[in-house]
Amino acid sequence: MLALITGASGFLGREVVAALTAAEPQLHLVALLRARDATELAARLAKLVEPLPERARSRVTAVRGDVAEPHLGMSASELTGLAARVDRALHVAATTSFDHPLEEARRINVGGTRGVLEFCRAVRARGGSGRLDYVGTAYVAGDRTDVAREDELETGQGFRNTYERSKLEAERLVRDAGRELPVVIMRPSIIVGDSRTGQTTSYKTIYWPMKVLVRFYGLWRPVVPRLVRLPVSPGCHLDVVPVDWVAGAIAKLFASEQAKGGCFHLAAGPRAPTIEHLVNVCCDHFGVARLRYLDPAGPIRFVGRAMRPILRAVAPRLERNGELMLAYTRQNPRFDVSQATAAGLIAPDVDEYFRRLVAFAFAEDFGRDNTR
Ligand SMILES: NC(=O)c1ccc[n+]([C@@H]2O[C@H](COP(=O)([O-])OP(=O)(O)OC[C@H]3O[C@@H](n4cnc5c(N)ncnc54)[C@H](OP(=O)(O)O)[C@@H]3O)[C@@H](O)[C@H]2O)c1
Repeated sequence: MLALITGASGFLGREVVAALTAAEPQLHLVALLRARDATELAARLAKLVEPLPERARSRVTAVRGDVAEPHLGMSASELTGLAARVDRALHVAATTSFDHPLEEARRINVGGTRGVLEFCRAVRARGGSGRLDYVGTAYVAGDRTDVAREDELETGQGFRNTYERSKLEAERLVRDAGRELPVVIMRPSIIVGDSRTGQTTSYKTIYWPMKVLVRFYGLWRPVVPRLVRLPVSPGCHLDVVPVDWVAGAIAKLFASEQAKGGCFHLAAGPRAPTIEHLVNVCCDHFGVARLRYLDPAGPIRFVGRAMRPILRAVAPRLERNGELMLAYTRQNPRFDVSQATAAGLIAPDVDEYFRRLVAFAFAEDFGRDNTR
């Protein structure tokens, strides 16, 4: 069987390619990759298959494209030819930036999903299954503070950034297409590094605040950790899941006939740790005294507001990232994982692996240049 995969070059996509090729020996993948020309495409494909076992490498080929462009960035005839060969698609590609203007986030996330759905319809018209396995996000729940179910999408929630909003709009397209195509929706929560090695290639999401914390509180210890309180809600839950587990779950759902028509939270759910728990793991790892907290809704918010113009002038990236990330440190939705649990998908406990993530990130200096 031949399947199209988008986003194969990304943090999650690479792991998904490895998990799928390992789980399904008969499966061949065509990775849609952005590239200026055939030379760059070949180089990107070589990098993608390099970590795979020898026998799996020849089962992955590549096609040059761009999901945000008409016909997925191919000519109409190239697209038709591909649709005649392929049986189904796995759409992983997205922009995961929180600070794109809404139009740009929509162009890639909504437009890209629309393009992949059109491709699936073309596959089906030519006799293939046209099944779409779609990687969304649990954070389509936006600023909800209750328990979000897998069968819910729009409940009147607001959004903390253009990423959340555009991913909701994209999932709406997939749900609507479910009337004519077999679709499976997978919603990971916050994806972190590999649970076995701690390794990561992406230093976004929780890694940026982790870096700021480690640098700031590690600088003048033991004085600073005892004196300076952290202005976040310690009891706020952060639902994190390791990338190897998410990739394995996607591979399992990809192979499942029963998954068709379903939506699955790939999340820790009721076992999601609190911020305090994760910060304590970091403190213990570095031998720093456990931190104390300041209510972010208390008087500190006036100090924060007063400081922002100064911070914007001297450290604009810190100010921008801080604003985007702090939105996730007050109150977050919890994720019901009933459907995923029924499918046998239970995320590992954070205490089994989080220390390894901290150690890896610190040893790699939080990715230095690739910190975004
Ligand atoms: N990371 C998380 O914590 C997290 C959590 C929940 C859900 N997700 C979802 O998981 C998926 C993968 O996320 P990730 O963390 O792996 O992101 P990532 O590392 O930023 O990778 C994004 C992937 O999408 C590709 N892409 C972006 N725009 C494209 C376009 N116009 N045409 C073709 N390919 C394009 C990128 O290709 P290039 O290599 O060319 O840039 C890359 O392969 C996304 O759908 C995201 O919403 C992620």
